[in-house]
Amino acid sequence: MANNITYKEFSDEKNYTALASEVMSVRARGEVPLACIRTYGCQQNVADSEKIKGMLSDMGFGFTENAEDADFILFNTCAVREHAEDRVFGNVGALKNIKRKYPSVLIGLCGCMMEQKHVTERLYKSFPFVGLVFGTHSLHKFPELFYNSITSGKRIYETGVDDKTVYEGIPTRRDGTFKGWLPIMYGCNNFCTYCIVPHTRGRERSRKLEDVVSEAKEMIEAGYKDITLLGQNVNSYGKNLEEKVTFAQLLSEIDKIEGDYWIRFMTSHPKDCSKELIDVIARSKHVSSHLHLPFQSGNDRVLKAMNRSYNREKYLDIVNYAKEKIPDLSLTTDIIVGFPGETYEEFLDTVSLIKEVEFASLFTFIYSPREGTPAAKMPDPYTHEEKTKWFAELLKAQEPISAKHCAKMVGKIYRVLVDGKNDKEDLLTARTSGNIIVEFPGDESLIGQFANVKITESKNWILRGELV
Ligand code: 5AD
Ligand code: SF4
Repeated sequence: MANNITYKEFSDEKNYTALASEVMSVRARGEVPLACIRTYGCQQNVADSEKIKGMLSDMGFGFTENAEDADFILFNTCAVREHAEDRVFGNVGALKNIKRKYPSVLIGLCGCMMEQKHVTERLYKSFPFVGLVFGTHSLHKFPELFYNSITSGKRIYETGVDDKTVYEGIPTRRDGTFKGWLPIMYGCNNFCTYCIVPHTRGRERSRKLEDVVSEAKEMIEAGYKDITLLGQNVNSYGKNLEEKVTFAQLLSEIDKIEGDYWIRFMTSHPKDCSKELIDVIARSKHVSSHLHLPFQSGNDRVLKAMNRSYNREKYLDIVNYAKEKIPDLSLTTDIIVGFPGETYEEFLDTVSLIKEVEFASLFTFIYSPREGTPAAKMPDPYTHEEKTKWFAELLKAQEPISAKHCAKMVGKIYRVLVDGKNDKEDLLTARTSGNIIVEFPGDESLIGQFANVKITESKNWILRGELV
């Protein structure tokens, strides 16, 4: 059972925020101390960075995109695939010059990579200019860790903590003003054999329903119009709470909040995605018609080796039910190509599944071995080159499907949320409830607002339209 503690209760013991603020007011190079926060990886990391920025704001920090100007540089890292890891090591190496030029700058690293022993050992040995390292379980202690590293002159490493507490009330400084992330749970219990997340983020723990609902209310009152509920497997929300509650119940509670807004959620796991949940989406007023439901592989043997706990038939069953119940449903998915031992014939089952389901779009990955996961020890006879060819074949197969999905929307009117501008073509950019991109001419004052747009043209996976 997870404990719940408020951040305030925890941080008031010794007010490190005020202490750090005092030190930084003297130590800053400019008028106010500046922080440069770079976030790698998934939305959970983005949400964590928003909390770190909230805590830094309370310490009097301003923010900059330019590492050269910063008094504090922090990389929030991702461990899901090798590529992300390599990028982090490369980019940290490049900070050495900044530290040499401005010795008072503090360089820190946090996030999933910092929960891997081989990573922190390498950092400790090869990157002595990194002064602060903390893992995903120590976010709430950030003011204390930060204060200790700027005052002790020692390198502070806080990793490998296994904390099952949910810390409520950590200040959040959101990047967006009308689109926002709302974590509803942390960690994962699924142990898919390829995945590092349960090892870096620990066991699943849910926030209490009333805490999530009240944060959603605050966001809606503050003008957020597109709120994404976050969790590694939102469908198992509530399982560890004292008062048993399901994700479907949470969604219907949030849906009752007055206002003009959309609710999205990610990520769903097919094994726990219930028909009850689909019914709630279909009945709801605010839940968007977008379902991100990763299937990873279309082949039952591979799914079993991945420890995914569903098969192709069960996946199709829930997807077909969702298609039947939710009009204009936009389905997206995650796929891994080249899981250890996957044959070309087995890969073709993935291709046939995307043709059968007709997803709006795919998030596709070539398998990347992660140290400490069971799949990393499985025989992996196919070369990266072969897997890259299969990967290209998959993308090619999806192209006409995405195009068809968009072409079907031409001539219809959709409600969209305007989210920015395509300066090159002087068009506004927006998203439908199904998360499809629409571009159309209009005034910039519409950014952050809902609008009705008639779709006039489809260009592969992007739509063009006009205001109605
Ligand atoms: N290799 C490749 N892709 C992976 N993913 C997770 N772990 C790995 C890995 N080791 C993908 C899965 C998951 C998405 C977030 O990242 O498809 O759904
Ligand atoms: Fe990783 Fe599987 Fe958990 Fe997703 S459900 S975070 S893929 S272990």
